Amino acid sequence: MSEQEIRVPDLGGADEVEVIEISVGAGDPVQEEDPILTVESDKASVELPAPGAGTIVRVTVSVGDKVREGDVVAVMDSAGAAAESAPAPEPEQAQPEAKPAPAPAAPASSGGSRKETVLVPALDGFDNVPVIEINVSEGDTIGLDDPLVTVESDKATMEIPSPYQGKVERILVSEGDKLSEGDQLLEMTVVDEGGEAPAQAAPEPQSRPEPAAAKAPAPAPAAAPGDSGNTLPAPGTRVHAGPAVRKLARELGADLTRVPGSGPKGRIVKDDVQAYVKRQLQQVQQGGVVAAGSGIPGVKLPDFSQFGDIETQPMSRIMSATAINMQRSWLNVPHVTQFEDADITDMEAFRKSQKAAGEKRGVKMTPLPFLLKACATVLAELPQFNVSLDMDRKEVIRKKYIHIGIAVDTPHGLMVPVIRNVDQKGLWELAAESAELAQKARDKQLKPAEMQGACFTITSLGGIGGTAFTPIVNTPEVAILGVSKAAMKPVWDGQAFQPRLMLPLSLSYDHRAVNGADAARFTTLLSQLLGDIRTLLL
Ligand code: COA
Repeated sequence: MSEQEIRVPDLGGADEVEVIEISVGAGDPVQEEDPILTVESDKASVELPAPGAGTIVRVTVSVGDKVREGDVVAVMDSAGAAAESAPAPEPEQAQPEAKPAPAPAAPASSGGSRKETVLVPALDGFDNVPVIEINVSEGDTIGLDDPLVTVESDKATMEIPSPYQGKVERILVSEGDKLSEGDQLLEMTVVDEGGEAPAQAAPEPQSRPEPAAAKAPAPAPAAAPGDSGNTLPAPGTRVHAGPAVRKLARELGADLTRVPGSGPKGRIVKDDVQAYVKRQLQQVQQGGVVAAGSGIPGVKLPDFSQFGDIETQPMSRIMSATAINMQRSWLNVPHVTQFEDADITDMEAFRKSQKAAGEKRGVKMTPLPFLLKACATVLAELPQFNVSLDMDRKEVIRKKYIHIGIAVDTPHGLMVPVIRNVDQKGLWELAAESAELAQKARDKQLKPAEMQGACFTITSLGGIGGTAFTPIVNTPEVAILGVSKAAMKPVWDGQAFQPRLMLPLSLSYDHRAVNGADAARFTTLLSQLLGDIRTLLL
């Protein structure tokens, strides 16, 4: 066994930095360059890497400790390497030596303010360093030393501070751009204090830790109100996390702007990222929908105002709930749609013959009650459509009741009230109940219980138009019937074409629960029942 002390390397002049994260524990095997811990000044965070492969024997500091160059932070067994007197590691990120920002390009003076183009200062030997965050927006008023952008090499995260106070006019870089010394960063209107030309304040080295007392502290990030519990950064604010945490987040696909930080000043530590990912997974397993939709990249919106006038309005509660349900079903359910035309010539003749009776009862008989009754009969005949799937338990849940939802178009959005025990009700009862529920839906009077418990849904666009459509299954149901507008069509009866009123049916189903042959059986039987409604009595 050859023990090797791991010491704090040259910190580029910083007296004292704080240990903000410890990435290893006693007994942990490490490879060369694996992060041991992260230290942070008020502006930069730096990882101390393992000097070689081995096993951590002990860590001699704690989170919150202040350390200086040469301090021992950990001891490792260097796995037989001849390293008893190995020198302190020379982590790459401790070498950076930031230089003052280049002199501004040709200032254009105008009284107490002037235009400046801010250039990237020396990045301590690094170049082509990607921008990971832009900390300001065009139009922002900023102070001297306010962080402008954050760049990240493979080991260190560095902020480039403002060399001036004033207003950001134009940002000349984007996230992901690779920056080197001298690149143009942004344009500013610099405000002269007291009417004097502002000091050509060079940005301080941000690529190395710097003692907080040595200069004006960087402004506290908007998302870091202190040490009081986890903090979720407001959108657009910068994220406080070390390179190892950022790397972990990238590997796990976690968006750090959504991760609440539990470390000092709201800093995000590895545990926060892991807890966030765990929560997201649990949410998905419990049927929740993550913003981007099960790992599918979200849709990025352009700034539409660049194309013409726009206005925005918040989604209604019904609209956002419908959007979530539709997306959930579309992403989870393999959909297939089976089409069929039902000959409803005789059914329509009967329906119209009931007009006077309907007026007496105060109920209008539309095609919908016939569809409800016929679907209830098919669901009883083909019970494989009256199920839900529990994919976690690998179980099929069979329902012994027949409740059918009806999609209702309302000014506030789509609502689906449910008619219970459709198989036990007559056509007049179904006509009255569906009209009452549809009216309640339009008046926003439906109770939650009146929208729950459906086994199957009918969505009828027949009163509006169209020849066919592919409805989305109202999951966890496994099928939905779309009904389009009935139309007279020439139908061959074996000897001649006859004008018949044909009703287009579109049955979408969950192909995990239902196979194609059963779907064809469903629409064929439904079409037969609607074609001769006397069979509904059998
Ligand atoms: N073909 C031809 N005409 C039809 C028809 C069809 N498939 N379905 C209904 N009609 C006729 C009706 O007979 C009625 O005509 P009439 O007054 O001459 O008798 C007219 O269209 C209007 O009927 P409607 O008021 O829509 O009653 P309904 O019982 O057929 O439908 C609802 C009730 C609640 C389903 C319906 O009002 C509705 O909201 N549909 C839209 C559902 C929806 O938005 N689905 C999309 C989900 S993504």
